[in-house]
Amino acid sequence: MVIVFGSMNNDFFLNVEHFPLPGETVLTSSSFVKPGGKGANQAVAASCAGADTVFVGAAGNDELAEVSLSALKKAGVDVSYVQRSDKPTGMAMILVDSSAENSIVVASGANGDLSADKVPDTLLAKGGVLVMQMETPVSENIKLMRRAKEKGMKCLLNVAPAKELPPETAELADVLIVNEIEALSVYGSFFGKEARDARFAARALSEKTGGTCVLTLGGKGALSANAGEVLEASALNIRPVDTTGAGDAFVGTFAANLEAGCDMTDILKRSCAAAGLACLKAGAQEALPPRDEILRRAAEIRLS
Ligand code: RIB
Repeated sequence: MVIVFGSMNNDFFLNVEHFPLPGETVLTSSSFVKPGGKGANQAVAASCAGADTVFVGAAGNDELAEVSLSALKKAGVDVSYVQRSDKPTGMAMILVDSSAENSIVVASGANGDLSADKVPDTLLAKGGVLVMQMETPVSENIKLMRRAKEKGMKCLLNVAPAKELPPETAELADVLIVNEIEALSVYGSFFGKEARDARFAARALSEKTGGTCVLTLGGKGALSANAGEVLEASALNIRPVDTTGAGDAFVGTFAANLEAGCDMTDILKRSCAAAGLACLKAGAQEALPPRDEILRRAAEIRLS
């Protein structure tokens, strides 16, 4: 089982020719609202990739919560452990420019109330994978990781968005997944000094944790560093429409294949394929590919 402990948002998309500069107003006729949030997106991605998936997040008592929850349920994700908060359901304002890049602001709302203490021990079954990100309180991630490790679970932390991490995270995380900016930030948290090169940082982070550090490289693919060994995977050759949620597609697919006991070559190939495919449609969750498409396109990923 994959348990995703993390954020849920409603994403308000605005397509723009270019991102506004400070003080500038830009007009658009293209806007839409879709379910999102890194945690919820990763749960849907894990379920699409074939894992039995439980999502534990915090929702407000509002209509937007129902939009998010019904999208999760439709994707086959168990939402029976979702907590309720008096704050509004999380909301993200996402600008997508003409080159498919995005710029995101998240109003955390209910996500800030997500509690590890409300997760029952019975859910933390031996052998599963616990997935977390950084849009909910870091202190709760740490608490839940401690309990999950005691139960024999593998802990995967996607350090997105980049934030200061308590040093004890290094002992608890079996897998860290970071992009280039996040790799440098986590290196700073763990080593108390700066690194200039994300690949160097990823190798150092894997040595520090004694586990795997995966560095995602956008259109250049990804690499995994473990016990001094580095494996690189290419990206799909695609023309992106919207890159929102590509990282979440990678993380959810990685977790599902890790839980299924696949080796790192297959895990990386499938995760890179899912991330590429997620860029071909607008929105985060609706763009996530099904397992058969991931497996078919994974054959296009080259390893070195
Ligand atoms: O990773 C993409 C996600 O980041 C969006 O769905 C948005 O909600 C923010 O959390």
